[in-house]
Amino acid sequence: MGQKIGIGMLGAGNVGGGVVNALPKLKDRYFDLTNNELELLKVLVRDINKKRLGLSNSQLTSEIDEVISDKRIQIVIEVLGNEQPACEYIKKCLEAGKYVVTANKEVMAKHGAELLEVAHKNNVAIFFEASVGGGIPIIGPLMRDFGANKLTSVTAIINGTTNFILTKMSEGDISFEKALSEAQSLGYAEPDPSSDVEGIDAAYKLAILCSLAFGFDVDPYSIDRQGIRSVAEQDFRYAHDLGYTIKLLSTARLMDESISVSVKPTLINLNKPLAKVDGVLNAIQIEGDLIDQVMFVGPGAGSQPTASAVLADVLELVRNHLDRGSYSVSRGSLKSMSVQSNSNVQSRYYLRLIVQDQVGVLAEIAQSLGNQGVSIASMIQSGEFSVGDTVELVLTTHLAHESAILSAIEHVKKINAVQEVGNIFPIDGVEEV
Ligand SMILES: NC(=O)c1ccc[n+]([C@@H]2O[C@H](COP(=O)([O-])OP(=O)(O)OC[C@H]3O[C@@H](n4cnc5c(N)ncnc54)[C@H](OP(=O)(O)O)[C@@H]3O)[C@@H](O)[C@H]2O)c1
Repeated sequence: MGQKIGIGMLGAGNVGGGVVNALPKLKDRYFDLTNNELELLKVLVRDINKKRLGLSNSQLTSEIDEVISDKRIQIVIEVLGNEQPACEYIKKCLEAGKYVVTANKEVMAKHGAELLEVAHKNNVAIFFEASVGGGIPIIGPLMRDFGANKLTSVTAIINGTTNFILTKMSEGDISFEKALSEAQSLGYAEPDPSSDVEGIDAAYKLAILCSLAFGFDVDPYSIDRQGIRSVAEQDFRYAHDLGYTIKLLSTARLMDESISVSVKPTLINLNKPLAKVDGVLNAIQIEGDLIDQVMFVGPGAGSQPTASAVLADVLELVRNHLDRGSYSVSRGSLKSMSVQSNSNVQSRYYLRLIVQDQVGVLAEIAQSLGNQGVSIASMIQSGEFSVGDTVELVLTTHLAHESAILSAIEHVKKINAVQEVGNIFPIDGVEEV
């Protein structure tokens, strides 16, 4: 006779619904393999009167204590979302000796180190595969499969909403507002899209990836972040002419004794695999001394792909940990070294300026850049998007420190013929144009 493994779930929305939907088939397969039974005993929701497919009234509760005090529940799946009360509930579950599986990037990015410690002290574990990249397995590989490598960089497209918007802009020559409203009408963007379009969601996920890849405890608010609201139709036109597209790229690079991390709209060479990751897909590229480069691509969100990651964690727990007693991913050894200011990081840059169409302007701009050691690699001049006697000037630079670019731009702004400094985006990769 096998044993019953009691599961509690906090939340029954998109992801919780996906878990409820996938669980019956998984239960059967698991029973056939092990003779053990997975049983979803309690599900915490706000509104217990709402009809929920696959759940009976007796399973629903609006009281967290009913989950915590139920001794039959060994594993709790947290799919509530937001920082609180999710974080407090996870902590209570761990303290009550329950294993936790969470899809919550905000909680893991802000409180991951503390929660892993609480799990460790209570001889249980917290798993969080679904917190980054939805259905893409990435937390597991970072914790286990790359263990023999010294990892040197993480380059990722980890927000499906912004990738959808930028793909639409790239394909359709449409404005940010139009692409956003299409994303909202398809349910890919929230009515308040700030967390996605300002790069906050991506910064949470990057912080989690950094802690696993490099052993650094990264404060998500210390990440150099630039959202996509300012990306314009013509930026795509110019980027395409130069052989690039634009993606919201999350990047972490190991420097000598620190890391540099950023989330920014970035020009990516059209021939690179990351440039072809379109729509709501996510991609995570890892570099290490033994593996060289590995890229994971897949659905970064959605009810079923995310349920796949959540349930993979549940299976890992029941197969390899519940029966063997204590298990914990310790973050006791995480270094709290600060993130290196990006001003020291070198990149090539794309600059878009609106200038008066008069003799000598380009020479003055080149001089301002040159004074800071920034040299121009290529230039496009176009009157298509400007008014009156102005033209748009798009420059790409050779490798330069961000601090040099920013101080050069301060000088450029003072040139009389320069009307506006539009976007400044890094260009991915070190090869020259
Ligand atoms: N959606 C995705 O594609 C996706 C992908 C990867 C990761 N995630 C993460 O998964 C988590 C859940 O996302 P979701 O899209 O499933 O959210 P959702 O659709 O908004 O569902 C949230 C669920 O939690 C319940 N809930 C929220 N606050 C509660 C509270 N204070 N007390 C009791 N119940 C509460 C809600 O109850 P009611 O139903 O009664 O309102 C609802 O069932 C988030 O951390 C999200 O970042 C989501």
